[in-house]
Amino acid sequence: MNISQQISTTPFLDQKPGTSGLRKAVTVFQQPHYLENFIQSIFDSLEDLQGQTLVLGGDGRYYNRQAIQIILKMAAANGVGRIKVGQGGILSTPATSCIIRKYQALGGIILSASHNPGGPDGDFGVKYNISNGGPAPEKVTEAMYARSKVIDRYQILEAPDVDLETLGESRMGDMVIEVIDSVEDYEKLMESLFDFDRIRQLLTSGNFRMCMDTLHAVAGPYAHAIFEQRLGAPAGTVRSGIPLEDFGGGHPDPNLVYAHELVDILYGENAPDFGAASDGDGDRNMILGRKFFVTPSDSLAVLAANAKLVPGYSSGLAGVARSMPTSQAVDRVAAQIGIECYETPTGWKFFGNLLDANKATLCGEESFGTGSNHVREKDGLWAVLFWLNIIAVRQQSVEQIVREHWKTYGRNYYSRHDYEGVDTDQANTLMENLRSLVPTLKGKQFGKYQVEYSDDFSYTDPIDGSVSNKQGIRIGFTDGSRIVVRLSGTGTQGATLRIYLENYESDPAKHDLDTQQALASLITLAEQIGQIRNSVGREQPTVIT
Ligand code: G1P
Ligand code: ZN
Repeated sequence: MNISQQISTTPFLDQKPGTSGLRKAVTVFQQPHYLENFIQSIFDSLEDLQGQTLVLGGDGRYYNRQAIQIILKMAAANGVGRIKVGQGGILSTPATSCIIRKYQALGGIILSASHNPGGPDGDFGVKYNISNGGPAPEKVTEAMYARSKVIDRYQILEAPDVDLETLGESRMGDMVIEVIDSVEDYEKLMESLFDFDRIRQLLTSGNFRMCMDTLHAVAGPYAHAIFEQRLGAPAGTVRSGIPLEDFGGGHPDPNLVYAHELVDILYGENAPDFGAASDGDGDRNMILGRKFFVTPSDSLAVLAANAKLVPGYSSGLAGVARSMPTSQAVDRVAAQIGIECYETPTGWKFFGNLLDANKATLCGEESFGTGSNHVREKDGLWAVLFWLNIIAVRQQSVEQIVREHWKTYGRNYYSRHDYEGVDTDQANTLMENLRSLVPTLKGKQFGKYQVEYSDDFSYTDPIDGSVSNKQGIRIGFTDGSRIVVRLSGTGTQGATLRIYLENYESDPAKHDLDTQQALASLITLAEQIGQIRNSVGREQPTVIT
């Protein structure tokens, strides 16, 4: 007989979910009651939890397994009817979204700090997704936060740990625990969207080689199953495919800096035709051709322009959506096709309503996130399959496809400069100063740039009318160029300042410039207007993507 216990606790005052769930250092989560308080706050803010189904899994990082055992015991004590948990505690973020939707679960808990490093000194995180499969919207996370500030008890069942390795059902109190294959449902969904036969032909033809680096994170098992087993790519196509608790000591973020081993391969001798990487929880992606990098903003635009070539999207797109800092490359595609392009604040949760209402089919963020209405999260492997499907149909290289795209639509030179771990007060002061400057900029001329508009981005959701203010400073110029400045909502140390730079070039003769060079005068201008380096005491950005 399992005994449900009521444990007294006191609130932690820092359990405010950020851009993507509650993300803290592992040591913070390991404090007595810390995880339990937040999980109980989630349960307390859900209506009708009794007898419902939840999905549970994580990216395999350090503390994943311990957290899963605690959450299972708390779910049982809180009256959850059934929990589907990924084998070994493993579920990627997009797979969780897929499973919530497929089995009409009430929601899901994803244990991940996404691309942040893992291990005892790394980060951990908890995200709650709602019944549409997407991240909880702000009003839900606000309710959780409000609850966490007054919580005084949590419920947990006294029970032995659950075997997470063996597939199948068992019981804990009145709750059924179902250990499910982490990959199967997701793989079926991919198969329903893409032309697997054609991709298989491409990958087994002998004249196309790909390399997928999953950075020792959650997408490894998915990539092995789909690319190597199902689609016939040779063994070894997937690199760093075994999830490790500390991601092998690396930073599981698919960009030019952190996925440098893959970059070296794609820019080296005898490089493969296609390279891709994914992040800690499998929702981000980076796409590379041979000696060629596709910016995430361009990737979204290329997918939108070629969507009709892919079975799951052959009937056309209802609309597209991008986060505000993402480049306007996709806007040009939308304008040409004659569909709406929505501009939302940073964070996938803002796409949910548009996807549910069928106003957008594809969406993306400059931060290596691309996805569609097939789930309610961004989806790394989905993006890779989408590219492979396009390549298989067009029989062109990544570079040819992107260059033709620029020829048709023009090129949006784009880069993001991050200043990581800066002093929080200094960062806030800089944002305050910019905010007060913003109303004075309109019409001003800076060299060749004239300010067309400048504001602190505010978004009114077209479906439910909810308003999100202070989403980042935008300075737009009459030639379509932009400077955007915002503070990260996912960092765990000090503040991270992000400067987004975009410069549009219609002339194909000027599509071969180095990105930083093409943006040089805009970079100088951002510095001139924002006094960024001075304000945060840095000589240069920490990461340039
Ligand atoms: C970052 C990205 C954002 C993404 C989020 C979660 O958030 O900028 O686009 O949705 O991670 O992956 P930020 O740290 O900027 O708040
Ligand atoms: Zn992620």
